[in-house]
Amino acid sequence: MFTRHSIGVGVLFNPSLADFVEHCSDAVDFYSVIPERFWNDHGRGASQRFVPLPNEIELLDRIAAKKSVVAHGVGLSIASASLFDLDYVHQLKAWQARYGFAWISEHLAAVRIAQAAGSDHHAGLALPLPWDEELLDLLCERIRQAQDVLGQAMLFENGVEYTPVPFSEMSEPAFLNALVERTGCGVLLDLHNLHVNAKNLGHSPVDFIDALNLDAVQEIHIAGGSSMHGIYLDSHSGPCPPEVFELLSLVAPRCPQLRGVTFEFLESYFPMMGDQGVLAQIAAARQALQPSMSNVPCPLPSSSARLAT
Ligand SMILES: [Fe+2]
Repeated sequence: MFTRHSIGVGVLFNPSLADFVEHCSDAVDFYSVIPERFWNDHGRGASQRFVPLPNEIELLDRIAAKKSVVAHGVGLSIASASLFDLDYVHQLKAWQARYGFAWISEHLAAVRIAQAAGSDHHAGLALPLPWDEELLDLLCERIRQAQDVLGQAMLFENGVEYTPVPFSEMSEPAFLNALVERTGCGVLLDLHNLHVNAKNLGHSPVDFIDALNLDAVQEIHIAGGSSMHGIYLDSHSGPCPPEVFELLSLVAPRCPQLRGVTFEFLESYFPMMGDQGVLAQIAAARQALQPSMSNVPCPLPSSSARLAT
């Protein structure tokens, strides 16, 4: 479990880790779970919208009995102009009550577009956003509402851009800083996303970090990627590149509220790593965090993060 003056290191759970949970959980401090993996969503307006998946929930119960769990949502689509899905937030609230997530994060992105009838269109990935005042006003209002429902601050994650996004009025860190200032939300800083933007667009991760209010960073994501047709993809396809661990060593000591570092990978790449490969990434993250451990004031996580039922 987490301890005072320490930063937890965890892994984003996917089904390939079912055996890892049984045999290797001593190596991690927490599991990050994607809540949408544990129910079927039949769409806004459906008479029974969220249908639990018994086998997946049995696995989640086993995870929560062993370790703290944090929630990493992928489906809220909080930046969609055409919809704001408060029913989804209430569903998250119900699961927070059941599993006592130590924190709840989401992507600062749009993934869905409402249709006049039927289910929403889904982009299949988080679309980048123009960082402007209109979007800032929209998101501040929605984040306040979501946090009121949940009764706690949420974390929002920086994104990936594969092409320049036109019409932005401010930088992404300036936008995140304004969100933090106006809503009290926290930041999930994804270092691989910064690496992707550096590889494809030449954006400086260090400039991003220097411009971000690091007091708001409570979780960091690390991951690996791959190149295809000259584009570096945020594919979560295995071990982290060295640059990500270098960024972790650089930024973690500057984040006084940092509570956890999470290694993300997609289950289709598990055969290339196996349990030992995942354990090696956890160990490398702990190594990169060594300089941070002695000067973190109080990243005390919730002790209520165990299974609450
Ligand atoms: Fe991430």
